[in-house]
Amino acid sequence: MNSHPNHIVIIMDGNGRWSKKRLMPRSVGHLMGASNLRTVVKSCVQKKVKHLTVFAFSTENWRRPPEEVATLFDLFVRYLKTEIAELQEQGIRLRVIGDQSAFTPELQEQINLSQRLTAQGTVMDLTVAINYGGRWDILQATRAWQNAHPYESLEQLTPEGLEPYLCTHPLPEPDLLIRTGGESRLSNFLIWQCAYTELYFSEVLWPEFDDHELQTAIDWYAQRVRRFGKTDEQIKGSLALKRDSKASVVSAQASHPSNSASSTNVNNANNANNANNATNSNTTRPLFLK
Ligand code: FPP
Repeated sequence: MNSHPNHIVIIMDGNGRWSKKRLMPRSVGHLMGASNLRTVVKSCVQKKVKHLTVFAFSTENWRRPPEEVATLFDLFVRYLKTEIAELQEQGIRLRVIGDQSAFTPELQEQINLSQRLTAQGTVMDLTVAINYGGRWDILQATRAWQNAHPYESLEQLTPEGLEPYLCTHPLPEPDLLIRTGGESRLSNFLIWQCAYTELYFSEVLWPEFDDHELQTAIDWYAQRVRRFGKTDEQIKGSLALKRDSKASVVSAQASHPSNSASSTNVNNANNANNANNATNSNTTRPLFLK
């Protein structure tokens, strides 16, 4: 069984069908989608998710009718303008990832401003992927690595070596990917980063994907056994080992002659560890886009 997902990524699909069912223009579906993003962001904060990454526009979405593309980009500018105060208030740090070279100066400025204004947020990272494609990300990362290592050959490039150049760096790998709207594919989203991510596909259209649906996805994730390439037996073995070592610490504490002193020490050591981890995670907070 898994603990709580630390990093959730969402492919927000189904805005168009939501509006079609209501005989409304697709733009209304996207508007409702943006409004639902606000709801889901709040739910994630309440559920203590540390990183939320959403797919708002793919490198392939340029193939949509120009009016729809324009509507979506208007919506991104408006979202950034209207949500920023709320994000700041909730302690959410916003990042936008993707190829921004095709964006209007207005959108680029709004992105820079929003990232600057929310840079101190420590409650949750909200990463919005706009004009993002997994293949683009892998290529741009490889080129950036080669530029940074002009005297090394690509033979020397490793997965760990590439990671700092991916535009998601330094976010941890996603634990849970949710795709709404009934399709079961990745659509070129975070294809490198999701190598070991649990994939959850929901029939619910994005504008209707509420807190209850999110909880259902998180509960599903909690039941998954993540093997990371290992066998079931190895995983069970290491879980048993963990349980045994915990049990032996407890029994050592109980049988120690200066019982209270030893348990204080163990707790202090744990606290020191936690404090260290907390400090480390603060000092390695994302520096945002390269
Ligand atoms: C896919 O649904 C959705 C998109 C391509 C756009 C996602 C955008 C939003 C959720 C709204 C705004 C986001 C931000 C960050 C403000 P679809 O249109 O492909 O739906 P369909 O498959 O039913 O046609």
